[in-house]
Amino acid sequence: METDSPQATVAAVIGWPISQSLSPVIHNAAFRHHGDNWSYVAYPIEPGDAGSAIAAMRGGGLQGLNVTMPHKDAVADLVDELDESAESIHAVNTVVRMSDGRLRGYSTDGEGLLRAIRINANWDPAGKKVCVLGAGGAARSAIDAFTRAGVASIFVVNRTVEKATQAIGESKVAVVGSQRNIEECDIVFNATSVGMGTDESLVSPELLHEGQLVIDAVYHPLETRLLRDAKSRGATVLDGLWMLIHQACVAQALWLGREPDYQVMRNAAVRELAARGN
Ligand code: ATR
Repeated sequence: METDSPQATVAAVIGWPISQSLSPVIHNAAFRHHGDNWSYVAYPIEPGDAGSAIAAMRGGGLQGLNVTMPHKDAVADLVDELDESAESIHAVNTVVRMSDGRLRGYSTDGEGLLRAIRINANWDPAGKKVCVLGAGGAARSAIDAFTRAGVASIFVVNRTVEKATQAIGESKVAVVGSQRNIEECDIVFNATSVGMGTDESLVSPELLHEGQLVIDAVYHPLETRLLRDAKSRGATVLDGLWMLIHQACVAQALWLGREPDYQVMRNAAVRELAARGN
């Protein structure tokens, strides 16, 4: 494990696979920029083994933990308490050790999405009509966050309709929708992996128009087919990297009690993606 100095406080992300994670680059850029003696590493942890990272948190070897696939659900059962979002979607992506030593699990993906919308697109989701494409973990975080943000309605559009019904969970404003609902929505969010590393989009360009905000959870490539189509139809667009950056900002605020500079983190991530040829 590489650290900035022998005394550096260590935070980590666990996942399987994890080698492509941008989180070390994003978090370490902020630590360096703010002069924190923290270091962030990625640990490949096999499915079923998340308990080892939780033990490291309890033992003080780790001061901050991020959790990605396939451990988000398991870690929700391993921590001592959950924040509201983590509880409602039963998934944890950030673990914080509190002053009494108890571990609290958070889900910062939804808050990251809302921050990206408010800060980088300068939109307020309250009162808006939303379409969420997909019904996996990213969709469930988004449905939970949009519901808390006071949107007027959410259409959940998914290939497998039963999964869309499940993803709605407790939301009072979400319903199962179809492609037909996209045109009437103010915000369209792709929470599927469609477009990752390909030139595909689930949305017919003619359903997109000026006055809409179109968001992609995918950030490889940064400008997906969906965002390119949306732009050419006059919509406002937001790429998936902003969501990734802001969920990391929320995590750093929880661990260190200060907000990091999101532009520094984004610049580091863009440089890394370019170096990887993305
Ligand atoms: P995550 O937890 O990262 O959100 P996931 O649980 O694998 O990922 O969910 C991926 C979502 O993308 C699912 O809703 C999936 O649709 P199904 O529920 O029908 O499987 C959707 N998805 C993935 N590939 C798709 C494709 N080619 N066309 C349409 N939907 C797709």
